Amino acid sequence: MSDFSGRLIRWHKRSGRHDLPWQNTTDAYRVWLSEIMLQQTQVATVLPYYARFLARFSTLEDLAAAPVGEVMALWSGLGYYARARNLHACARVVVNAYGGKFPREPERLCALPGIGRSTANSIATFCFAARAPILDGNVKRVLTRTFGIEGFPGEARVEKQLWSLAETLMPAKHGDIYNQAQMDLGATLCTRSKPRCDECPLLEICVAQATNRQAELPHRKARRELPQREVTLLILRRKNRVLLERRPSVGIWGGLLSLPELPNALNAEYFAQHHYGCQIDSVSPAPTGVHTFTHFRLHITPLICNVTTHTQAMESGLEWHDLDDIKSVALPAPIKKLLTTFA
Ligand code: ADE
Repeated sequence: MSDFSGRLIRWHKRSGRHDLPWQNTTDAYRVWLSEIMLQQTQVATVLPYYARFLARFSTLEDLAAAPVGEVMALWSGLGYYARARNLHACARVVVNAYGGKFPREPERLCALPGIGRSTANSIATFCFAARAPILDGNVKRVLTRTFGIEGFPGEARVEKQLWSLAETLMPAKHGDIYNQAQMDLGATLCTRSKPRCDECPLLEICVAQATNRQAELPHRKARRELPQREVTLLILRRKNRVLLERRPSVGIWGGLLSLPELPNALNAEYFAQHHYGCQIDSVSPAPTGVHTFTHFRLHITPLICNVTTHTQAMESGLEWHDLDDIKSVALPAPIKKLLTTFA
């Protein structure tokens, strides 16, 4: 047994979790259900759902026989709903193709709906005494810190390296305790922020501890440089009123009122006159702003245009609004900020 696994197994006897409702059983239905619910979800959140689920579906056959809508309703609030649809599909496959008994081999478990390699290996160690490592988010954190693994663990190259390390570290015996210990360590001591290293059984062998890189490891996903867009917006101000224009229903701020946008290479005076019927006698820049959307960053250059006369019937989609009431108009947040600060 490696130093790593030995330390974890000894620690788990003393300090691990032993009384969770899916422990102390080798019933694959109960273990599988818990592992699916625990994907990306904390134990405390799962506990009441797990109890309600088993109260309604006490066997795999009950679950397979239920309409999917009922399964979804019991899942409601737990999030990641593909898990519930896959759960139901998996129950039906196990009943129909395996006579209601989960297969014992990790490779076959892994082929079932909603069961990935780590979940398959959890079930196989907890229920069938397999020698199969796990690699969920908690374990990735424990491994990257203990062994100083660089790179974002979600990246294929790093994930491959972690699986290979996990296979090497897997002890021949006590796979269930060892896997549970890694999960428990990741959830209780080797946490993302404020890890409790002074209580950790891996303290003496941990690379992150030795190099003081607990906060850095595991590495986060490299942030993509967002594409940049520039826009010039006209604050056509006449006395205490400003001209607003409804945006097209598709695209950013779809359907909301906003400031008129000056097309590239057009002169503000010319555009204000010909497009909006506004004569203006002065144009002055207001401070520029940046607004970040999920897929790009918008740099806003506002121009304050002093309107002397407005000579055009108002087209639909155009509205003059009192600047004193601008707070109550449904505007994109950066536009509202701009108008309340500078106009
Ligand atoms: N997270 C995933 N599987 C778990 C388990 N068996 N116990 C506690 N947390 C977990």
